[in-house]
Amino acid sequence: MVNIGFFIIASNLMDKLVIKGGHRLKGCVTASGSKNTSLPIIAATLLVGSGTFRLHHIPDLQDIKTFTQLLHHLGAETTFSENTLLLSTRNVESIQAPYELVKKMRASIYVLGPLLARFGHARVSLPGGCAFGPRPIDLHLMAMEKLGAQISIETGFIDASIPGGKLRGAHIDFPVSSVGATGNALMAAVLAEGTTTITNAAAEPEIETLCQFLIAMGATIRGTGTTELEIEGSDALQAIEFNNVFDRIEAGTLLAAAAITGGEITLNGVDPDQMKAVLKKFQHAGCQVETTANSITLKSPQKLIPTDVTAKPYPAFPTDMQAQWIALMTQAEGTSLITDKIYHERFNHIPELNRLGAHIEILKNKAVVHGPQKLSGTTVMSTDLRASASLVLAGLVAEGTTEVLRVYHLDRGYEQIEVKLNSLGAEIIREKYKEFS
Ligand code: UD1
Repeated sequence: MVNIGFFIIASNLMDKLVIKGGHRLKGCVTASGSKNTSLPIIAATLLVGSGTFRLHHIPDLQDIKTFTQLLHHLGAETTFSENTLLLSTRNVESIQAPYELVKKMRASIYVLGPLLARFGHARVSLPGGCAFGPRPIDLHLMAMEKLGAQISIETGFIDASIPGGKLRGAHIDFPVSSVGATGNALMAAVLAEGTTTITNAAAEPEIETLCQFLIAMGATIRGTGTTELEIEGSDALQAIEFNNVFDRIEAGTLLAAAAITGGEITLNGVDPDQMKAVLKKFQHAGCQVETTANSITLKSPQKLIPTDVTAKPYPAFPTDMQAQWIALMTQAEGTSLITDKIYHERFNHIPELNRLGAHIEILKNKAVVHGPQKLSGTTVMSTDLRASASLVLAGLVAEGTTEVLRVYHLDRGYEQIEVKLNSLGAEIIREKYKEFS
């Protein structure tokens, strides 16, 4: 009984970040590996039945752990140490991704294409909604059907099989640009018979990196980095060693942290070419931005200039930077308009930012940010990954102490965020707290 009682209390213990605001960030920091490229790359290892993959620069994040757990469940062997993931998928036998794992992370849908292509059958639990609105998977299913799969949805599972035994190359035209659906279509098409063309493919760097990964495995893909992809099916893919790319969203968040505190930082280990839209907006906001082939230096202005932003598919401003931009614009001298054309209702961070003293209104799916507002520390609640990042940014500039609760959202996508920010002069500590529901 005592043990059970202890377990129940312990399971309510969560992490919070306690931020003392008001420190100007200064110094150098290195970007981590990208979470959003790691996930499809790890899924793509399911395509191969022999050998061991060595994946370097994989961030040590909760999402990676959850995804690796899913691969374990399917029968893969994995070892993770110092940002290198060793992965062997030769003993994979299960083709079923259960709800308990899929519900933790929507990106689990990435196993659909590779499992189907390799085993001719896949069962993946339906992922459900998420904190910032409905996130359909119809385009993933449409792509699999075009390639010859038969899909049924029963008892909460997507059941995909191939009546003809093997996927066949096809033309897939996406009505909406989708990173996830493009990734799934690519991973299925590389093992299909014949040629597949994908139009209106997502051109995000995450898809470009997935293409490079698949090509290194032996796939033939033309049009990498564009919205039109052509894939020649192959059956001779192999396990490889691969260096993951930097995380452009973490990089943008760290630059925003410097800018919101009036600071000056250099980010190393980045490719500024992948961040053109974001860097342009920092310049519009008055920041001085200097780049080399693998670094970005940002110097903040005396006063930030209000800057409108519309989040759209790459190469435009990313939706995953929208929340952080709103936090930044609370300190600009005037009104900024922020629109998200990808997830129209992705504004969960706004009520919490307003609790810190921001003045942000939502008008017809636009966030109207009235700056500059003096923020003052209080306790705020994370609701999703990027929303939590925006609260941390606000905490860095707020007067007094800000406590950001439910940091597990942040830990899904930022590797040692407080360690990195503290190395630049921030004052953040991580503490445990009990949450009573
Ligand atoms: C990926 C990223 C996420 C980012 C998003 C948009 C990962 C793990 N996640 O998510 O961080 O915010 O891209 O850049 O890489 N859509 C459909 N039907 C579908 C699929 C998508 O209508 O079957 C719509 C969505 O509702 C959304 C748009 O397409 O409006 C883009 O979504 P998508 O690119 O698929 O997002 P994710 O791949 O889930």
